[in-house]
Amino acid sequence: MSALARKAFKSSIRALEIGVWYGGGSTNIWLENFMPGSDIVLLDAWRPYASSADVARDEFGAANWDYAKMDSLSSEAFMSAFLNVRRFENDADDKNVSLIRGKSSAILPMFRDDSFDFIYIDADHKYDSVKADIVNAKRLVNKKYGIICGDDLEKFPTEELLELARKYKDRDYIKGEYRYHPGVCLAVSEEFESVNMSDGFWWVVCRNGEFLSDDLSLEYLQAD
Ligand SMILES: C[S@@+](CC[C@H](N)C(=O)[O-])C[C@H]1O[C@@H](n2cnc3c(N)ncnc32)[C@H](O)[C@@H]1O
Repeated sequence: MSALARKAFKSSIRALEIGVWYGGGSTNIWLENFMPGSDIVLLDAWRPYASSADVARDEFGAANWDYAKMDSLSSEAFMSAFLNVRRFENDADDKNVSLIRGKSSAILPMFRDDSFDFIYIDADHKYDSVKADIVNAKRLVNKKYGIICGDDLEKFPTEELLELARKYKDRDYIKGEYRYHPGVCLAVSEEFESVNMSDGFWWVVCRNGEFLSDDLSLEYLQAD
């Protein structure tokens, strides 16, 4: 993620992160790696969002983490994200960071086409949400040159994974032998012909309106 942020952009940019949580993970990577002068918009609903299917206990449900506990931490996460941004501003106030609290479905339509050079999608991973976030991102990304990326695409889509994902659109995660986020897998496969992926982090480059995966490849990012 750091290599992508550094290698893709050599000057200041406009960036959007959808899904911030405590602001201590991906957010720090963007704050540390984008060039001074960049505008970084951090958007999160900071409210409970697990579905009843997420907390269900069956063959595939009840993943390895506690969704109810996660939901109960949303206020703490909001405060922490704010404090993280303030700390960053105290140490290196070289970027303009904005925090927006709201559902992506309500906020993203307020931005104009081509508003951002970089969009990171890591909010609600259930199908309808990821799908809407990607559709919005495709409109909002700079069509001349921009990046759309996101988290939790553990596996490249196969017919079997897509079939299962179509059945479990209300699930964040499918555990057991599959271990993947079905909504991310299905939405990404529907919206992009192909994407790059490393450890679940996925990205595509938009050049002159075309979404490409052979540009900024993993090999290129890993090279010195
Ligand atoms: C997986 S966490 C983000 C993790 C973060 N990127 C990190 O690296 O630590 C998902 C976040 O998405 C937020 N979220 C869930 N549904 C959302 C929605 N509809 N709109 C905006 N944010 C949402 C949650 O509040 C949560 O903070």
